[in-house]
Amino acid sequence: MASITFEPISGELGATVRVSADDILTNGSPREIRNALDVFGVLVFPHLYLSDEDLVSLTNALGEMEPARTTADGSRAAALGIYRIALDKQNSSQREYVEGNNFWHMDGTSYRVPGKATLLKCITPAAAGGDTEFAHLFAAYDALPQAKKQQLEGLRVIHCLEAVGRKFKPDHTEEDIRRWNAVFPPTEHPLVWKQSCGRTSLLIGSTAQCIVDKNGDTVPALLEDLLEWSTQPRFTYRHQWRQGDLVIWNNPGLLHRSHPYTEAAGRIMHRTTVKGTEEIA
Ligand code: OGA
Ligand code: MN
Repeated sequence: MASITFEPISGELGATVRVSADDILTNGSPREIRNALDVFGVLVFPHLYLSDEDLVSLTNALGEMEPARTTADGSRAAALGIYRIALDKQNSSQREYVEGNNFWHMDGTSYRVPGKATLLKCITPAAAGGDTEFAHLFAAYDALPQAKKQQLEGLRVIHCLEAVGRKFKPDHTEEDIRRWNAVFPPTEHPLVWKQSCGRTSLLIGSTAQCIVDKNGDTVPALLEDLLEWSTQPRFTYRHQWRQGDLVIWNNPGLLHRSHPYTEAAGRIMHRTTVKGTEEIA
């Protein structure tokens, strides 16, 4: 088989990939996909219609799959380690988790080693809303003025679920805060993450609560400024889903979010995660 073609989408971010579901696991495709992830950040496979079993196989072929245990919901997909993203869940904390995706974030900031890649397959697109948008942190960091980069050196950032919860539930209770902190308590990271690929991202987004300096004092407004900078249209790509689409992204180099949708919109997505190899340092 000829090698896969990657058609750049816009600027530095994203490529459309023409490959069939039958060919995606053979003839070196996983290796080409893994390499392309580092180059394009987001890979879009329109109308691929990959089965759940092949989604799991592809995830393992790209690295090692991290089964979605904490979000297991008794679905057939969950039995395969797939996270079924939908708003039709009975459990309110599961629904909250899905709603939290509407804010810019990087997956896995509660860990020292966030996932390498996220794979998202569209089972049913939302009748309205529900696009997924990506922001290229590597490009956004590169484009910062030198003086700004110097200002960021050595700063630390605190991440926690409470930071997300406060955004989507303004009327939260003490019990909510206790529950969020039990799931993902405050975790300190460097703000600037220099990665072995030679590129640099920022540990910002919805799970970031505050930036602190060497003395432990909070640096006001910087988180909001950096988020605004990094999510400018020139650094973003917004995917409008159609049934059967698969999108894979390089999680440590990007922020992503879903655009709001209601339960009635019927959106169902299946997600898998490739374990990370790059420790935040
Ligand atoms: C996620 C996520 C976005 C979406 O599953 O981590 O952010 O569009 N999903 O569902
Ligand atoms: Mn996510």
